[in-house]
Amino acid sequence: MKPAFVFGTRPEIIKLAPVIRAFLDRGVEPLLIHTGQHYDYEMSSVFLEELEMPPIDHHLEVGSGTQAEQTGLAMIKIEKVLVDERPDVVLVQGDTNTVLAGALASVKLKIPVAHVEAGLRSFDRTMPEEINRILADHASEVLFPPTEEARKNLEREGITENVYVVGNTVVDAVLQNAEVAERKSDVLERFGLKPKEYVLITAHRAENTDRRENLERLIEILEGLPTRAVYPMHPRTRGRLEEFGLWERMASIENLTVTKPLGYLDFLKLEKNAFAIMTDSGGIQEEAIILNVPCLTLRYNTERPETVKAGGNVLVGLEKERALGYLQRLLKDGELYRKMAGAANPFGDGKAGERIAEILMGLYKEGKLKVKS
Ligand code: UD1
Ligand code: UDP
Repeated sequence: MKPAFVFGTRPEIIKLAPVIRAFLDRGVEPLLIHTGQHYDYEMSSVFLEELEMPPIDHHLEVGSGTQAEQTGLAMIKIEKVLVDERPDVVLVQGDTNTVLAGALASVKLKIPVAHVEAGLRSFDRTMPEEINRILADHASEVLFPPTEEARKNLEREGITENVYVVGNTVVDAVLQNAEVAERKSDVLERFGLKPKEYVLITAHRAENTDRRENLERLIEILEGLPTRAVYPMHPRTRGRLEEFGLWERMASIENLTVTKPLGYLDFLKLEKNAFAIMTDSGGIQEEAIILNVPCLTLRYNTERPETVKAGGNVLVGLEKERALGYLQRLLKDGELYRKMAGAANPFGDGKAGERIAEILMGLYKEGKLKVKS
């Protein structure tokens, strides 16, 4: 069997690594295609190294661009590789432009697509990710929703065949790396941080960074933080801050350490030891609840509603009063803190990668891995 993985960004590498590993453990060598959507060392190679991934077979070097430029160029380059390589199935993960390009290029060549983390919906079509998820799900032959809730989203859209609830591979990644991170990373010492005495911040999503007023609202929240905080900053955010002339203001916030993006081991250690996390990231909302750290999400909706229902995550948007008010409550109210930190992980047992490999190998053996005519 010849599975191909198409990926291109930081979270895709992290969440596909356990699936790639599961195939390798079963004697199947997957083809690895990196679109190059993320290209800085600290947004890509650091993860391939830390997660000990095999060498990439095809580097497509698509890079940055507008939505159509990036997606279109990735499609053109992916198609060429798939025509040459003819894999049995193409795996994509999540909701980036790389995912949409990989799914469309494959299905149009009649190569079945398997979508890892299928069925997530924010119900906000202004997000590029929401469009990518919906289209990728509808182009896919095999779907791996992480939760029952995600499966129901697919069902509502008429997708019911070859749908397997397997958990989220983010749990596999955390379980495989948290202990190594705790042992190997010296990130707390490097930044002079004490466990449970700082807040971890990340924000990079287009809706929070592409408009000056939203970046200003983010800065106002950070200026009001009552504790030490650390913000490993996505290059998109850094770029926008500079463009809008806001970088100096962000960089001079007292008590806030802004750094370049960190490797996975450093980042996991920072997450695990944080008092709380404030983020607009999808993956970090998931990791927070897995690692028992309260999460305040800097968004007005989430495609991870399971975390909110479980009680580990609160949507605070870019509302200063709400965000800082919640943080103050967490600092004062031990009961509330324990409740949020103790919320049950809804994303499975850390064996999602193995299940995905087993299911796809089974379908392949039975001759069922085909695009329906
Ligand atoms: C993309 C995904 C988003 C995901 C995020 C993970 C889409 C539509 N968005 O957003 O869902 O949460 O990846 O991090 O696919 N840049 C660099 N170096 C890099 C990569 C990007 O400097 O290695 C800068 C460039 O200025 C680029 C900007 O970041 O224009 C945005 O990059 P892009 O890949 O378009 O989207 P992300 O914001 O990373
Ligand atoms: N991450 C990391 N270093 C950082 C920030 C994030 O290793 O400086 C990891 C984090 O642990 C998570 C993933 O990157 O697994 C999340 O990526 P991101 O927030 O960019 O994307 P999203 O999940 O929102 O698509």
